[in-house]
Amino acid sequence: MAVSSMAALALPFSLATRIRCNVISTESQQQTFSATNEASSSSALEGTPAMNLATGVVNSLFSFKPFFRFASATARQMLIRRGTEIGHPWDPELCKLRLHDWDSALKVVQDNDLEYPEYYLKPFHAYDNGNLSWDAALEVELAAKSVHANVFDPKRKELDPNGDVRLRESYHEKMCTMLKCTPRAVVDIGCATGLSTFGLHQYFPDATVIGVDLSPYFVTVANYRLKEHSEALGQKLPVHFMHAAGEYTGLPSGAFDLVSLCLVCHELPRSATKQIIEEAQRLLKPGGALAIMEMNPYSSSLQRMVNNVFAFTAFKATEPYFDDYRTFGLENAIESLGFSSPIQAESSPSHRTLVAHKN
Ligand SMILES: C[S@@+](CC[C@H](N)C(=O)[O-])C[C@H]1O[C@@H](n2cnc3c(N)ncnc32)[C@H](O)[C@@H]1O
Repeated sequence: MAVSSMAALALPFSLATRIRCNVISTESQQQTFSATNEASSSSALEGTPAMNLATGVVNSLFSFKPFFRFASATARQMLIRRGTEIGHPWDPELCKLRLHDWDSALKVVQDNDLEYPEYYLKPFHAYDNGNLSWDAALEVELAAKSVHANVFDPKRKELDPNGDVRLRESYHEKMCTMLKCTPRAVVDIGCATGLSTFGLHQYFPDATVIGVDLSPYFVTVANYRLKEHSEALGQKLPVHFMHAAGEYTGLPSGAFDLVSLCLVCHELPRSATKQIIEEAQRLLKPGGALAIMEMNPYSSSLQRMVNNVFAFTAFKATEPYFDDYRTFGLENAIESLGFSSPIQAESSPSHRTLVAHKN
């Protein structure tokens, strides 16, 4: 297969079609976004006593290892089946990726002195070693396509093969209307294999974009994707990846216009989210922007999932920090950590984009 068509297979959007972001932020637009945001109060997110009791029972069921293994294997099979249904079958892509000599490439990017936070060393997404494994790194893009195939249907039934692309485009479009200036230097914290980083490059082609991730496996695959895209376009892209913690990136202070966290916070305990927001504050120039795209805890779509005790417990079994994120009150934390009150907009029926500027 030619490199360009391989890249097209791997890319959720064609980098050949460059999109420039026109920053068209106006007071009136920003007010519209704030006004349309659903009322947000973290106390509204607490469950009823009956729900909490039912959750306790289902939690005990999931803490029974054989049941947990059965449930996570079933969930994984569902994602794989959905991949085939939407035209992104997993097997051909995984077979192709597994041919690569990943271990040699890993040695080049891995920071052996990096100490992983405890939360990162636990089983996650049904992988025993969490994100610290080749399986997680090679499957993450396919999983994103499967998981996001139904996010634009409020009932989560209809599948759109383009759901992942649409979700990311919606993030960038909403973000662009809220930014005060076009960024020239961008950090993408929790970049995984670069889906979000290449998306930022596509919107801000003149900016240098640095993707940071705690998993050296993900960063290795991100570098592989970077090489693929650069070869397909016949030019070196201003995109870089580094193996580092978002809490302490080691990047210079006050040097960046935009720090983006795309679909990261729901995978972190709130203590880590706070530390990463503090790090974003340090990295940004005065007036620089923090942009976050995440599941919206206040959306009726997510509330429906939360009210289905069994489905929600199954979800939490592979997303152990989701409840901590859901009840955190992210917008208040951002404001208390040296940013303006975040402006918000819907990115899908269950996702929102938040942008706040450094005070
Ligand atoms: C759901 S993935 C999101 C990936 C990507 N931003 C996207 O939009 O597809 C979350 C990523 O955050 C990374 N991550 C989690 N904790 C982190 C931390 N403290 N510092 C840096 N990356 C972290 C994980 O390794 C994972 O790659």
